[in-house]
Amino acid sequence: MILELPRRTEHFGAVRFHDVQRVYELDSGTRKFPTRSRDAVATISSQEIDKINEKMAIVIPIKDEKLKLLEGVLSGIPHDCLVIVVSGSQRSPVDRFMMEKQMIKQFNHFVDDEILLIHQQDLGLSEAFKTVGFNSILDKEGIVRSGKAEAMFIGLLLTKMLGKEYVGFVDADNYVPGAVHEYAEIYAAGFILAESPYSMVRVSWVYKPKIVQDKLFFPKFGRVSEISSQHLNRLIESYTGFGTDIIKTGNAGEHAMSMRLAELLPYASGYAVETYEIINALEQFGGVLPCANPQVTAKGVDILQIETRNPHLHEVKGDEHIQDMLQTSLDIIYNSPICTETVKNSILKYFEVTKESSSINKIDPIIKLDFPRFMQIMKEKSQTLTEFRE
Ligand code: GDD
Repeated sequence: MILELPRRTEHFGAVRFHDVQRVYELDSGTRKFPTRSRDAVATISSQEIDKINEKMAIVIPIKDEKLKLLEGVLSGIPHDCLVIVVSGSQRSPVDRFMMEKQMIKQFNHFVDDEILLIHQQDLGLSEAFKTVGFNSILDKEGIVRSGKAEAMFIGLLLTKMLGKEYVGFVDADNYVPGAVHEYAEIYAAGFILAESPYSMVRVSWVYKPKIVQDKLFFPKFGRVSEISSQHLNRLIESYTGFGTDIIKTGNAGEHAMSMRLAELLPYASGYAVETYEIINALEQFGGVLPCANPQVTAKGVDILQIETRNPHLHEVKGDEHIQDMLQTSLDIIYNSPICTETVKNSILKYFEVTKESSSINKIDPIIKLDFPRFMQIMKEKSQTLTEFRE
């Protein structure tokens, strides 16, 4: 891959936001590396990307998506990555989880990938959380809550179980396997470029095409990300005193983290998850609040944003869904202890009801979990954890 080096970096305490990097060529080949533009681009070989892939898990949260889409997504993930599918799909009257399991089994018969599958509402999984006292992911009945963030968190735990160093997330409802392949390559390229072991790579989609008046239109920004990014930028500038547009990926569903960073972050439930990753990094390492972890402050946190070449084509789930995502993303900014009055006032315009306090649940960070004990119970009691390997 040949991609632009970041042209600009904004520092907020120990957090470094790098400006969006453009991919020039998806495959840099093996012989003719660019010489003229050497100082402006990074040329990353397939071999370097392969090395990261071996250390990376790709987590796919899925809830009642079309099987053909999931199969396409699986086909786009590089063979050397571990694949973890965390399903929240219905079990009755039609058992969609069973359908997913059958499809993955058949797919894997031909490719022999390393794939793990688990159902989010697996009673054994919930029991393991309960027994070790990790209640922040459970509902009132003591079962793992539904929600994309909850699925991502379970994916993180399985990534840790298998000792991977990096984790990337890819939605299951993507129509273009080639785009999924590009996300994984972007994650690997980002980790190669990051200086800190505490790093995050967020995908910025070049376009999100849709049909407008019978024609294909290629808008640049998703409706939610545009507004959440705008408010994250306002928050940064209200501390630095300099206007900025550095954040373009407030709601990047497709993103990846080094496990060293991922284990330190708490996660906001549902669709607030990606915005909260940024907010929490600012809270923990931004220097406004007392620093939670001096080792991280010493190394810094790198947040890279890399723009795809492939457009993002996914299932469209309607205006209400978009509104819900926007509300939760802004809620998590509004209720942060570092949110300033100016930003709050700007956010209030988007709320349907005035927010007294947040109703968004948060999942504690992995470091607060008794991991060995949790894993032992989970492996013993889980009824759905399946490892596919021929
Ligand atoms: N296991 C599980 N459990 N998976 C879920 C759940 C759940 O409760 N809810 C959603 N998912 C899965 C979906 O099946 C899909 O694969 C992925 O999570 C994303 O959910 P969507 O509902 O399709 O989200 P979206 O496409 O509208 O929004 C995406 O892009 C936004 C940025 O524009 C998501 O990635 C958002 O998180 C992101 O902010």
